[in-house]
Amino acid sequence: MNVFSEGRIGNLILKNRWIHSATHEGNANPDGSCGPDIIELNRKIAAGGVAANIVSFAFVHDTGHSLHGQIGIHNDGMIPGLAKMAEAIKKENCRAIIQIGHAGCHANESLSHAQSIGPSPMVNVKGGVTRQMTKTEIEDSIQWFADAARRAKEAGFEGIQLHMAHGYLLCSFLSPHYNHREDEYGGSIEGRIKLPLEVIQAVRREVGPDFPLLAKLNCEDGLDSGMTYDIMGHNVEILQRAGLDAIEISGGCSADGAKWPSSRGFNPQTPEEEGYFKKAAPYFRAKCSLPLILVGGNRTLEAGETMIADGTCDFLSISRPLIREPGLINRWAAGDTSRAKCISCNLCRDQLFAQKETSLFCPFAALD
Ligand SMILES: Cc1cc2nc3c(=O)[nH]c(=O)nc-3n(C[C@H](O)[C@H](O)[C@H](O)COP(=O)(O)O)c2cc1C
Ligand code: SF4
Repeated sequence: MNVFSEGRIGNLILKNRWIHSATHEGNANPDGSCGPDIIELNRKIAAGGVAANIVSFAFVHDTGHSLHGQIGIHNDGMIPGLAKMAEAIKKENCRAIIQIGHAGCHANESLSHAQSIGPSPMVNVKGGVTRQMTKTEIEDSIQWFADAARRAKEAGFEGIQLHMAHGYLLCSFLSPHYNHREDEYGGSIEGRIKLPLEVIQAVRREVGPDFPLLAKLNCEDGLDSGMTYDIMGHNVEILQRAGLDAIEISGGCSADGAKWPSSRGFNPQTPEEEGYFKKAAPYFRAKCSLPLILVGGNRTLEAGETMIADGTCDFLSISRPLIREPGLINRWAAGDTSRAKCISCNLCRDQLFAQKETSLFCPFAALD
């Protein structure tokens, strides 16, 4: 097994072990639909050698809209644009997967036109107050995900990734930091995982037993009393039984900038420093036999080869290095094995999130 050998997620064959991790592009139309620019950006990533392109976080409902230029999958009007995107990705011999999610307490109220919602009331990172969801709203949210999954499948995507990481809605239900509910959707590990489980079950009913279903999960939140490797291990065992096909392990929450390596711009210098969350892998492996995708700080072919060869993970996913060099994997495959040029500085992300730019790009790419 090596980084350029075939791999499998459910019934989906992947031509190698490199995956593009979901990365907000900023240039969807204001209503969330996909036009030529965002399709071209995703086609380029697909043409660059990754086996699968996980297209960025598409919001399943207006109340879960967090960023300008974010993709929407919240109504059927989104399907034609998404279909063009899925087709463009698949034409490049790359698997088309889309991440679907709800921003929860991180929703941008100027875009969602509603007070943000979450498992428990809290002062959110924007200084506003997030409202506790009622049981009816929780039941409604399960249907939002199921409907979005149907749209992704209808559009021709070959897999769906549920966003359960980074402090967004499903992550916040899983996290003891955010979830202080005393009803059946909180109070214990079993309570906190109930909504994510019900979402998986509803999505499965919608897309059928064979459609590849992935989740991106936090192994640590970087917040007081947040997710731990042990709780994550317990959760992945339950999530596997519910019918997932693969799990991508990530970490950190949008609330907590400085504490997680990618947010603080940590640029790994040695193979040992690569794979920000690889210490969580044994906790995952002890409880779960699903393919493990590891994201965060993967920068050299050498470190990637080691992590695949020694079984740390089954796939490596990358985000920022492909913003600077969409063709990175082709470059490595062709024999130029120097490290990714991305220096993890986050300028691309900060400019986009502060709305100083309206499309994702690396200002240093012109120098390469
Ligand atoms: C500009 C930008 C946008 C991102 N958007 C998403 C997203 O839509 N969904 C997601 O799960 N993670 C998102 N992330 C996080 C990345 O997928 C990835 O987990 C993180 O950048 C660490 O990987 P890297 O070191 O390869 O960049 C984003 C990161 C950046 C820099
Ligand atoms: S601005 Fe360029 S070098 Fe800096 S993190 Fe983004 S892609 Fe990497």
